[in-house]
Amino acid sequence: MIIRHNGLILAFDVDWDTKRSIVFLRGIMDLIDAVKVGWLQLLNIGPNGIKELTSGINTYFLADIKLGDIAHINEYVIRRLRDLGINGVIMHAVTGRENLNGVAKLSRDLGIDIFLLISMSSGGELYDLNLDYNVKLGTELGIAGFVVPATKPNIIRRVRSMVGNNYQLLSPGVGVQGGKPGCATASGADFEIVGRSIINSESPREVTLSILSAIKDPRC
Ligand code: C5P
Repeated sequence: MIIRHNGLILAFDVDWDTKRSIVFLRGIMDLIDAVKVGWLQLLNIGPNGIKELTSGINTYFLADIKLGDIAHINEYVIRRLRDLGINGVIMHAVTGRENLNGVAKLSRDLGIDIFLLISMSSGGELYDLNLDYNVKLGTELGIAGFVVPATKPNIIRRVRSMVGNNYQLLSPGVGVQGGKPGCATASGADFEIVGRSIINSESPREVTLSILSAIKDPRC
């Protein structure tokens, strides 16, 4: 479970080296509840670099590799990510129960949170057609929560009404993709996930603070 202080997760999609990454993160760590890393880090600084990040910054690290393979590969990846200091992993729902069952149990045993991707912030019509099925699947698997896009507030509301308060809803798509800051949490998400609006800004701290104001006082 991600502890909620501010309701904001940084999508840290950068190809920077670890030193630059750590300096950047230290500048805004007090304002964000978790750091989402993914393919950019894996391909640029590699597993050792990710380990350096998770050791150098004291926060919740969410791996967004949209994992979606057959069961034993999924389980291997979860074990390796745990060794790298990762706390939560985003997985595709689309691979279905047989490929998710074992990994959901393994993750609980290892203390890793699984967040199931059940809707894309752009496109993803196959997901949206099967929303109810995927939400039910997630609740039966015993995962930590779901990824629901800020660009589709009706989906956030629907998922929240289905799962109550027992699951955390993480919402990407704020800022560059069109979601208005504050409106995903106002629709029922626990966290907004923001990347480029913060990372590419000349003053990341000011932008982050303005997003936090919108989360506290949404105008949607
Ligand atoms: O830069 P931006 O704020 O658009 O970043 C959004 C982040 O959320 C990216 O890391 C992207 O991979 C991720 N994401 C998304 N839509 C999903 C799931 C994850 O945009 N459905």
